[in-house]
Amino acid sequence: MSSKRNSKGRRHPIGGLLSGLRPLACSLSLFSLLWPTVLYPLTLAALSRRFGKRTAARSGYEPSVTIIVPTYNEASLIRQRLADIAAYEYDLARVEVIVVDSGSSDGTADVVETVQREGLLPRLVLIREERRGKAAAINVALGRASGDIVVATDAPTLFDPQALARLAANFADPSVGAVTGDFRIPDQSTLSQREEGLFWTIRNRLRRLEAELDSTPFLSGEMCCFRRDLVPLLDEDTVADDMNIALRVRPAGYRVVVDSVASFSEPRATSFRELNVSKTRRAVGGIQELFRFRRMIFRPRYGWFGMLILPSDLLYYLPVRPFALAFLGSEVLRRLAKRRASPLSAIAVAAAALGIHRAARSPAVRRAMLVALFNEWIFLRAFVNWVRGHYSVAWTQEQSTRRLADGAAADSGQGRTDEWAL
Ligand code: GDD
Ligand code: MN
Repeated sequence: MSSKRNSKGRRHPIGGLLSGLRPLACSLSLFSLLWPTVLYPLTLAALSRRFGKRTAARSGYEPSVTIIVPTYNEASLIRQRLADIAAYEYDLARVEVIVVDSGSSDGTADVVETVQREGLLPRLVLIREERRGKAAAINVALGRASGDIVVATDAPTLFDPQALARLAANFADPSVGAVTGDFRIPDQSTLSQREEGLFWTIRNRLRRLEAELDSTPFLSGEMCCFRRDLVPLLDEDTVADDMNIALRVRPAGYRVVVDSVASFSEPRATSFRELNVSKTRRAVGGIQELFRFRRMIFRPRYGWFGMLILPSDLLYYLPVRPFALAFLGSEVLRRLAKRRASPLSAIAVAAAALGIHRAARSPAVRRAMLVALFNEWIFLRAFVNWVRGHYSVAWTQEQSTRRLADGAAADSGQGRTDEWAL
């Protein structure tokens, strides 16, 4: 808005105030764009190099473990999940496995009973219940769990065979309350899967830095390993059980850490249409939990976690960047239109535009742009859905990630939305 002048040529007081606020609005917009993308990662890297803590993991440390697999219509995957567990390089006599099936209509529980009869796992328990959501199912299992360490995981997930031993070894360090590993996306043949591949490369790295400095809220539900006595029960209304756990562990005085050697994988949706739905739900869960535990934000007693990590992660979830970019763009245009732009700034804008145009020739840059744009879109949708209460603990299952397990992997190219060489 231009500052209005009255008939005597003086500035209107409100117009004057507004133009006085412009530099502040510009700085805030720039900050909201640069902090999560560039400045926060650099700050984290610098701080964790200076103040970061190594985890005193001790290999050979083998506490008793309860692995919880909540299932709702996972008949195509549950056998594969249990066979994966049976192959872990860990004393299976110390591993209790609890499958909580919430009234699946596809015979998931019957498959589990068959596996029980076959004796694939020495200590396999099946609990059947009505569907009340994933967190409620985990709560039922927590009530029965006997292991000192709990590992919650999803039906489509696979762990590296050494991962369980690596995870367990981290609990030899008394400051560690929860551990996750690095998420690998196995099949990246469609564009939506490549988006997720790069997204997770970045997320893995950032959360590892957060964990080295203090603790991370990004504990993957696919590999969600924690001390049982720290988390007696979850909030059953949550759609991000994993973040609910991570945000309970830190105020109890323990860290949530990442062991990159312990890796796990899970297929991602083959189309953006499907990824759009599941990723929005995951982001709604993030917002829901950061707001639930907002009392820790900017509280010095929670150290770097309260003062830096949580506020930055909340800013990352808030859909402010599209508006900041639009505002900055309109400012540049306004200045150009009023010919108030100095030749230098006009050259800078032209150089930036040219730079982006040239950089976009590289597939890596194009993929990074895709990740940024798609995720901003997701945050916008997620925020609106969260405000309107448009989410449910009984969420819709992705179909393409279940089909893959049925040997239909060959159709994974179906979701390709265009032929960008990314
Ligand atoms: N018992 C039970 N009851 N299990 C359920 C229910 C339910 O109502 N709903 C989903 N599950 C099970 C699924 O069968 C699967 O094993 C696991 O929970 C994860 O469900 P997905 O539908 O595959 O979730 P995702 O991988 O897209 O979700 C991600 O975000 C979630 C939070 O929004 C993962 O990180 C999950 O671990 C996380 O819970
Ligand atoms: Mn999952």
